[in-house]
Amino acid sequence: MENLKQKFEQGIDVPFFRPVETTVYLRDHFRMYTGKFQEVYSPIYRNGEAVYLGKYPMMTSEQAEGCLEAAEKAWNGGLGEWPMMTLQQRVDTVRKFASVMQEQREEVVTLLMWEICKTRKDAESEFDRTVDYILKSCDIMESRIKADPQDGNNWYKSAGLRLTTVRSPRGITLVMGPSNYPLNETFTTLIPALLMGNVVIFKPAKVGVLLLGPLLQGLRDCFPAGVVTTLYGEGATVISPIVRSGKLAVFAFIGSSGAADKIFSQIPNPHRTKQILGLGAKNPAIILPGCDIVDAVKHNIKGALSFNGQRCTAHKILFVHQSIITTFIDKFVDAVDTLEPGLPWEEGVDITPILPNTSERFQGLLHDAQNQGAYVVNKDGGKVVGGYMHPAVLYPVTPQMKLYRIEQFGPLVPIVPFDDIEEVIQWMETSDYGQQAAIFAGEDDREVLKTFLTKTKNLLCRTNINTSCQRGPDEIPFTGRKDSAMGTLDLTSALLEFSIEHVTAVPENDNVFFIELE
Ligand code: G3H
Repeated sequence: MENLKQKFEQGIDVPFFRPVETTVYLRDHFRMYTGKFQEVYSPIYRNGEAVYLGKYPMMTSEQAEGCLEAAEKAWNGGLGEWPMMTLQQRVDTVRKFASVMQEQREEVVTLLMWEICKTRKDAESEFDRTVDYILKSCDIMESRIKADPQDGNNWYKSAGLRLTTVRSPRGITLVMGPSNYPLNETFTTLIPALLMGNVVIFKPAKVGVLLLGPLLQGLRDCFPAGVVTTLYGEGATVISPIVRSGKLAVFAFIGSSGAADKIFSQIPNPHRTKQILGLGAKNPAIILPGCDIVDAVKHNIKGALSFNGQRCTAHKILFVHQSIITTFIDKFVDAVDTLEPGLPWEEGVDITPILPNTSERFQGLLHDAQNQGAYVVNKDGGKVVGGYMHPAVLYPVTPQMKLYRIEQFGPLVPIVPFDDIEEVIQWMETSDYGQQAAIFAGEDDREVLKTFLTKTKNLLCRTNINTSCQRGPDEIPFTGRKDSAMGTLDLTSALLEFSIEHVTAVPENDNVFFIELE
C-alpha cells in the first residue's frame, strides 16, 4: 500500500500537464465565452494535489437557447442545407470530419488518460473504435446508395400501386454522452444522427468534457453552420430550456435511467420526441460447476474489472455454484492480486484511479454489505488512496444487501453462491435491468445451459456463453430491456433509429407521374 500512496496520493513522478481550457462553444460559429467556468481536476495527484486539467464554460440558459435557435435555422423545418443534401454529400462530409478527427488522436487519447484515467491501451482503442464506427457507418450508407442510386428511388409494385421508400431525417436531435465512454458513446449516436440528415445539439457529461475540445474545430469546419452545436454546463440550466421548448425530434442519451426520465419528463409534447437510450445494467455472470474455472476466472476478471468496472456491460454480480465456490474464489482473488495498479500511461497497467467523486458511494455500498455479513476476501480490497480505490471482492452477498440489486459501476465484485439455476433466473426476472448475462459452462452443464437459454431470451438482449459481456462487435445489436435501454445501437440499427420512412405511392396506371418499371 505504501507504493500506491506514493503513486496515487503523493503523485511522485507524475509528469507536468499543460491545462486545456475550452473558452468557446459552437453555435452557428465559435462563440467566445467569458462567463463562469467549471474547473476540471484529474483523479491523478501530483505533489499531493489533484492535477488541474483545465476548464469549460458553464453556459447560461440564454446561451443554450441561442444554440437551439441556430439548430432550428439549420434544420429550417426540414428544408435546411444539411437535411436536403444527398446521402452521398453527407457521407463525404462525415468522411472529411473523420480524417480531420484522426489528426487529433494523440491529444484526445492523452485527455482520456488524464480526465477519466483510461489506460493508454483502452484510450487508444476507444479512439480507434470510434473512427472505425464512423467509417463503417459511411460504408453502409454508400452500399445503400450503390444499390439505390437515386437515394432510395427503388420502385416496386403492391396492391395496384407503385411505391418507393426512402429514409428521412427526424429533426433537431439532442445528444448526451456518458463519462465512461465520452468519445465512443457520444459519437455512436452523434454520427448516425448526422449521416441521416438531422441537426444535433450535443452536450457532454459532467466528466469527460475537455477531450472533446480538440474535435470542435473539425465539427465547425466540416458541417454547415448550426448543424452541430455544443452545450456545456449544468443540465438544469442548459438542457431544460431545450427540452421544454417542445422542438426536439430525438432525445439520444447514454447514462442512468433516472437522469433520462428527469430530462424527458420536461418535454411538453412527449409524443413528438423519439427516445434513443443506452442506460444502466446489472449484468450477472453465472459460473456453473462443469466450467473451465481458469478460463472463467480470466473472463470474469476482464468482465468485472476492466476500466475498474466502470462499464455498463461489466459483470456486476457473480453467481457461483456452491460446489465450486471455494476453488473459484481462491483463483479469482489470486487473479485480482496480480492486477497491476498504476497510472494510465504506464506499461502493463490494469487498474487505475476511478472517476471523480465516486469513491464515497462505493464505500457506502461496501460497508452496507459488510454490516450485513459479507467479507472483503481479497487483500486491501476497498482501500482508497488518493483518487484510486483497490478492487474489493465481496462474499457472501445476500438479497438484503444493496449490492445484490444496485448497479455499482465501479471496482466492487459481489459474489453470490447458488444451488439451483432457477435462483439465478428468478433474480433476473425480478431485476430492474435487462441487458446481458455471461454464463460459464462445460460438457456436464448442457441441460442447465439449455434451460437457462430458453428462459433468458425473454429476459435479456444478449447471452454470452464462456465469454464476457460486451457491447461489440458494432455489427451486432446492442440494446436492453427495462431500465437498460430504449432503441438499438449497432451500426445499421442506429441509422434506422435516427431516421424515418418516407413512402411515395402512385397508382400503377397513373400516367402523369410515369415511372418505367422493369
Ligand atoms: O458503458 C457501456 C459501454 O457501451 C460498454 O462497452 O462493452 O465495449 O466496454 P464495452
